[in-house]
Amino acid sequence: MEILPLLGSFDAVVTDPPYNETSCEWDVWPVGWPAMVARLTDSLWCFGSFRMFWERRDEFADWKLAQDVVWEKHNGSGARTDRFRRIHELAIHLYRGQWEEIHKATPVTMDARKITANRRQKPGHWSDIGNSSFASEEGGPRLMQSIIYSRSCHGYAVNETQKPEGIVAPLLEYAVPPGGAVLDCFAGSGTVLAVARSQGKRAVGIESRESQCDEIVRRLAQRELGF
Ligand SMILES: C[S@@+](CC[C@H](N)C(=O)[O-])C[C@H]1O[C@@H](n2cnc3c(N)ncnc32)[C@H](O)[C@@H]1O
Repeated sequence: MEILPLLGSFDAVVTDPPYNETSCEWDVWPVGWPAMVARLTDSLWCFGSFRMFWERRDEFADWKLAQDVVWEKHNGSGARTDRFRRIHELAIHLYRGQWEEIHKATPVTMDARKITANRRQKPGHWSDIGNSSFASEEGGPRLMQSIIYSRSCHGYAVNETQKPEGIVAPLLEYAVPPGGAVLDCFAGSGTVLAVARSQGKRAVGIESRESQCDEIVRRLAQRELGF
């Protein structure tokens, strides 16, 4: 809250806030943060559970919803037997102003099956959500699907709720142009910062626990070898 007003603007904020759902002492929602980051960017990817977004919906009043993606994990959280075992989390994309002015790179995976895959007629009941269709060929680009599987970080996590780079990378690829700048105001172990560096982007991270800041420094000190 003290640092945010000192920062300049960012192409996007990509962040993973405290959901307010665990007994971790740091897991407390800082009231007002979505409004504060709205002064720094027009594009926000935010991780969370549906319960978190539902309970905090008024906090996102400055934002319009663009889309949501599902992070499918290999394991579940919670051992309650009175509900389905939750093996997913959400990341929602919010924006401000005109959608046309928001930077976005078409998200693709290189596994198209047929040349006709993306040439089908748009069903009549779809409203106009923009023209994002393109022709492709076997093994070529295909519009990335909104359920993204990535193994959790169990076994090597240094943050209690660490996100794998595999789920953060497509969000950053989408929202931040090459050489652009991203803010993660709940940086944890520094996953967004590490992904930003590997994509050639600039990043600022804020993290309240000094032990996590040490982990970030250690993580970012490891450099890729230039093979
Ligand atoms: C869900 S975790 C982020 C995990 C991160 N995405 C990763 O992959 O390691 C949220 C982090 O926010 C930090 N945090 C909680 N309240 C904060 C605040 N007011 N300001 C900055 N960081 C805070 C917590 O210490 C925690 O590490």
